[in-house]
Formats: sequence, C-alpha cells, structure tokens
Amino acid sequence: METTGISSSNDLLGEQLTTALADPATGHGLARTLRAALREVELSRYHRATQRAFPDSPDEQPTKIQIGGGSHQLDGFFNIDLVPPADFLWDVREGIPLRDGTVELLFNEHFLEHIDYPRSAKGFAREAFRVLAPGGQIITGVPDAAHVLNRYPAAPAETGEMVERWYSKRTCRQDVNTYLDLVNLVFRDQDDDPNYTPHLWAYDFEKLVQLFTEAGFTTVRPWAFDATLANPKREWASVYVVATK
Ligand SMILES: C[S@@+](CC[C@H](N)C(=O)[O-])C[C@H]1O[C@@H](n2cnc3c(N)ncnc32)[C@H](O)[C@@H]1O
Repeated sequence: METTGISSSNDLLGEQLTTALADPATGHGLARTLRAALREVELSRYHRATQRAFPDSPDEQPTKIQIGGGSHQLDGFFNIDLVPPADFLWDVREGIPLRDGTVELLFNEHFLEHIDYPRSAKGFAREAFRVLAPGGQIITGVPDAAHVLNRYPAAPAETGEMVERWYSKRTCRQDVNTYLDLVNLVFRDQDDDPNYTPHLWAYDFEKLVQLFTEAGFTTVRPWAFDATLANPKREWASVYVVATK
C-alpha cells in the first residue's frame, strides 16, 4: 500500500532530478542516467496513484485484456499500460492487477522487449498464467530478433528498406547508417529521444516458446497475424505466439 512517506520521497527525488537535469554543469553521461531515473519516478507516480484508487484490483474483472497497447487501444478489451490513454495505469513489472483464473484472452505486442529480463519478463509470463482461466490464451508479439540476425550482413538496399520501415519517423534516423546499427537497435532501441524506451531483451520464436512453457503453458504456437487485433504496422519483422493455459 502507498504511504505518504513513499509519495513525498518520490516527489522530492523528482524535484532533485529535474533540478540536476536543468544544471548546465550536468554532463551527458550523468544526464542520460538522470533522465532514466526521472522517467521511473514519473511512472511510479501513475502506478501508486492507481494503487491508491484501487487497492485490491479493478471492481469488475475484465475477461479480455491488452497490456502495453500505447495509443493502439483495443475496443472490448481492458487496456492496461504505464501511461495514458489506457483504461488502467499500472506498472506490470509489479504484477497483473487481476484475480486468479479470470481472464480469457490477454493480448500484448511490442511490449515484452521493454521490460527487464529475467525478473520482469519471467514474472510477466507467470502472472499471465495466474490470471488466465484454464484454456485461456495469451498472444504475444515482439520484434523478431531472428529476422534481423538472419540477414546479416545485408545488402545496402535491404538495409535501406529496413531503416525506412522502422526508423523513418525517429530522431535517430540519420544515425542508423549500417546494417549493424539495425541489429543494435533491435537489441537496445536506445537513443536520446525521451519518447522511446529502450529494448531490454531480444526475442525470437524459440525464446518465446521457452518463456511461456517455463511459466506453465500447455502449448505455445505461432499466431497468424490478424490486423483486427494487432497493430497493422507491427506485421513486418515481428514474431507472434499464442500460448494456451
Ligand atoms: C513500443 S510501445 C508499443 C505500443 C503498442 N503495443 C504497439 O504495438 O503499437 C510499448 C508500450 O508498452 C508500455 N509498457 C512498457 N513497460 C510497461 C510496464 N512495465 N507496464 C505496463 N506497460 C508498459 C509502454 O508504456 C508502451 O505503451
């Protein structure tokens, strides 16, 4: 449960980080670390505010859940994300705020690679298993590390196509110069644009099967991309699986 002490120390930390970031004497290396810390302080504020409002879990137990949908909210689903515009602002690294065996379908794409491995990723798979009803399913999509690794070293035309598809709208576009930069981005997705959170682990089909099997799922199979559910821009170079409890 939230205490005033935690929230005021978070507020104080947030103010100190903001002050340090505004100081011209703060060098680039320190500033990057402080920005990451400030982001965690802000996320923690959302998470704790929700925890205060719903100390147990949401009143109604939704049966279809999307996690980490960002702006791609799904109608008919209960959308959980760290930040707005989700239905429920929650940090899934702290668990899934739903009761055991109540969920029929849990959907997530381009989310898993943003949480740390093994603690949070394995915790997420275990939590998904816990909240799903028997026979319930989790559909997971991630950037396919095999897609980018299998093409190394790629011809310049192929590099150019991938850069345009993935990074044309990113501030880092001009710094993606060779195929190895693409490989780096799949594994790290790290630039200094505060709108983008890094990739903390890379996945392929085999790793997804292992992750969900270890969490107790009976079957883990490829999922045929369905744009009525998934974000259409994720079809290219992603890998999706459906795991059944
Ligand atoms: C790259 S975006 C993907 C958005 C959407 N699924 C799509 O494919 O367009 C990753 C999303 O995961 C959310 N996310 C990252 N870590 C999270 C966490 N610990 N708990 C809940 N959501 C998280 C982010 O806020 C963001 O909306």
